[in-house]
Amino acid sequence: MIREARVFADSDLLTHAVADESLRIALDAVSVAGRCSICLSGGTTPKSLNELWAHEYATRFPWKQIHLFWGDERYVPPDDERSNFRMARETLLSRVAIPAANIHPMRTDFQHLADAAAAYESALLDFFGERPQFDLLFLGVGGEGHIASLFPGSPALNEPLRWVLAVEVPAEPPRRLTLTYPVINSARNVFFLVEGAKKREIVSAIRRDPELENSPFPAARVRSTGRVIWFLDQAAAF
Ligand code: 6PG
Repeated sequence: MIREARVFADSDLLTHAVADESLRIALDAVSVAGRCSICLSGGTTPKSLNELWAHEYATRFPWKQIHLFWGDERYVPPDDERSNFRMARETLLSRVAIPAANIHPMRTDFQHLADAAAAYESALLDFFGERPQFDLLFLGVGGEGHIASLFPGSPALNEPLRWVLAVEVPAEPPRRLTLTYPVINSARNVFFLVEGAKKREIVSAIRRDPELENSPFPAARVRSTGRVIWFLDQAAAF
């Protein structure tokens, strides 16, 4: 089920619309709370948004009040080409005036993944002081409907309490850290960024899927208490 979808003729129009909407959310959050918490997604789709933020929005975005977190991370060193942190560093963090203390990556240097998951839960608790409620949380969608590193059939889909889990996924690299639904569903704004013809089938399947709770598609199970918007380009749209 897709409640709200915005379809754009191409990636550039989509990316500008997301940048404008995220700027509005950021300025509102900063005016209310003095800061704005944004949870980035991994994968490749966010690259164009990061680059747009780093150029056209470099001086318009209140980077000094922005705090960046990650929805999931591949358990590889931060300079590994598969690292979601590295992608963000190269396309955004190294190009905007965001204080280093405002950048909250998932650490991947623990011997045990479970300790890394617990460490990120502590980092979230330190920042939010309670259950994390992101002002804006981004999600991409995998071809089989996964979000963050919550894959179809994973026990992590049914986690009722933990905020961060260590998981093994049927993708490369398999060892990962991921936020859970208790956190994803607490976000004030959830933006799905989905582009390209290769995503058309999964978007159409989720659209047709009446299920919510027990959907086979992790993306369809998102039921945030806040706004949930699917940003689609024409190629991915139904
Ligand atoms: C990851 C992501 C993952 C991603 C989807 C879509 O670490 O891989 O967080 O959930 O968002 O796989 O990836 P693309 O944007 O590359 O299609």
